[in-house]
Amino acid sequence: MTDFKPASTSTGTERAQAEPLAGPALDGQNRVADPGADPEGPNRAATTADQTAYPPAVLKTDAAAGANGSRFLRACLRQPVDRTPVWFLRQAGRYMPEYMAVRKHHSLLDICRTPDIAAEVTITAAERLGVDAAIIFADLLLPLTPMGLDFEFVANEGPKIHTPLRTAEQAKALRTDRTEDLLYVSHAIEKVAAHFATRPRTEVLHPTPDALGIIGFCGAPFTLASYMIEGGSSRNYIETKKMMYGDFDAWSILMDKLITVLTDYAAQQVAAGADVIQVFDSWVGALSPSDYRAYALAPTTTLIRNIQALGVPVIYFGVETSTLLPIMRQTGCDVLGLDWRTPLDLAWRDLNYRVAVQGNLDPITLFAPPEVLHQRVAEVLAGAAGRPGHIFNLGHGIVPNTPVDAVLAVVEQIKQSRL
Ligand code: CP3
Repeated sequence: MTDFKPASTSTGTERAQAEPLAGPALDGQNRVADPGADPEGPNRAATTADQTAYPPAVLKTDAAAGANGSRFLRACLRQPVDRTPVWFLRQAGRYMPEYMAVRKHHSLLDICRTPDIAAEVTITAAERLGVDAAIIFADLLLPLTPMGLDFEFVANEGPKIHTPLRTAEQAKALRTDRTEDLLYVSHAIEKVAAHFATRPRTEVLHPTPDALGIIGFCGAPFTLASYMIEGGSSRNYIETKKMMYGDFDAWSILMDKLITVLTDYAAQQVAAGADVIQVFDSWVGALSPSDYRAYALAPTTTLIRNIQALGVPVIYFGVETSTLLPIMRQTGCDVLGLDWRTPLDLAWRDLNYRVAVQGNLDPITLFAPPEVLHQRVAEVLAGAAGRPGHIFNLGHGIVPNTPVDAVLAVVEQIKQSRL
């Protein structure tokens, strides 16, 4: 039988990964030690003690989020802004006619892998909506290919991984040395950054409040592992949890390899001009708090610390996470994404306002009559109550057939609501 060494009782490979990194220490049980000891949290706008914990992170974000920084970046760092910044999860997607026009001629993966087209789709969505940030058009699963797992998107079914990963041997065989194969994403980011940097150089160095934020992204270890192990989308995550519970060696090897690849991938994106990295842990809500602590917290913390050490803030997002939020906060993320099931005011209060929050309108509200939509948007803003550190967004991605006019109306309403 495989040696069972869950994170709560061992100092396994995840710990070895976490140890050399800056940031709050992990305790002997592979958990973040006494998060309460850090009164302000690891936010970049904080104190000297904080800056000692995250030395390189200060350099880039200070320049971008100084007195004149973009409102999106300032909000990520919980600095005051003139108005709440807004962008939307899956803002470039099938609800948008401009995207569908491109999609008619290219597959999803072709769009992702062709920097000119990926950049065009990214820019078109951000400009059409008039939002404060552009998220690079890519997909969560792209890193699977250089790691050695082939996949495709099957129409109406979603992603399909040809040979799902089920054993420690398969985990050992994953490649971590081919991340340059993903440079097409960075090339797209360079093009997006060049497009939005048409202002005089002094303004690039000291961006105006309305300078657009550029968001790079990657999957979190748990969510990406779930695709690799299940072979696609899943309802109950049986194979994933079987590996977590029953073959912790395989799980640890997989976590370590994902951390390596995702750190390199994020570094490429930051070098190309991403101001912020969003880590998508979309399906982590499938875990109980104790399982999150035992199997996901340490690898996710390591990844997030690695990305922050590149000098950018990290937005950490998951769905159905209301019971996990305080533990997710322990990763040291700068911003926590909230889904719509948790009232923003209560969630933020329970986090003691020590982290910025992003969200959290129910995406299906965009199908409601205008006055209901208006009311719900107002409720989200009222929940944030003008505190520094709120980024308006949905609680999950825009779904197909969402009326574009409803999305535009939300942007307009946010722009009218000065702080
Ligand atoms: O503006 C944007 O946010 C779009 C960029 C983007 C895509 N995927 C393109 C895409 C982003 C940020 C993602 C992330 C992603 N990919 C996630 C995490 C985000 C989340 O919703 O929680 C996940 C889980 C994936 C994996 C994935 N990609 C699935 C499960 C599917 C199929 C689901 C479906 O709706 O069909 C995709 C396909 C995909 N990725 C689409 C887009 C625009 C839709 C399919 C298409 O255009 O053919």
